[in-house]
Amino acid sequence: MLDPKTIEIVKQTAPLLKEKGEEVTVRMYEILFSKYPQTKELFKNAPEDQYKRLANAIISYSANVDNLDALQNAIEKMAVKHVQTNVKPEHYPFVKDALLSAISDVLNPPEEVLKAWEEAYDFLADVLIKRERELYASAE
Ligand code: HEM
Repeated sequence: MLDPKTIEIVKQTAPLLKEKGEEVTVRMYEILFSKYPQTKELFKNAPEDQYKRLANAIISYSANVDNLDALQNAIEKMAVKHVQTNVKPEHYPFVKDALLSAISDVLNPPEEVLKAWEEAYDFLADVLIKRERELYASAE
């Protein structure tokens, strides 16, 4: 579980991030696709613009990291979609790097804010990876 200070920082900064969501999102995809071009393939069937919502979703869901029950349905949908599109655990560090770099570029936040977002991302990523592992295993 995340510590209360991390949760507080993430919750306090989520509205600002959402306000700048579009800029963060655009920047995140620039970084993701240029640094990790192998991820482009995963989005080949994504409806126009839909893949761009990924960064915003991460920001929204991170603000609820202390209330995973409320996220249960959303997490299940994400995990199913990820398994359909062949997202694997090794992709998570790419999105993490791209997202944190984008947040840093667009908002230039203090180090403790970036650190809190890093922890929140890791936390969500763990939950998703675990569920996706089950779904992949049951599809074998
Ligand atoms: C904490 C991390 C992540 C969160 C919160 C997240 C969230 C989401 C959400 C909300 C959707 C839309 C689900 C739907 O349509 O119902 C989605 C779809 C998708 N995500 Fe993630 N995601 C994460 C990590 C990743 C990673 C690491 C990758 C791989 C680069 C990835 C690739 C995709 C792809 C390819 C889709 C489907 C696009 C499409 O074809 O519609 N996601 N994700």
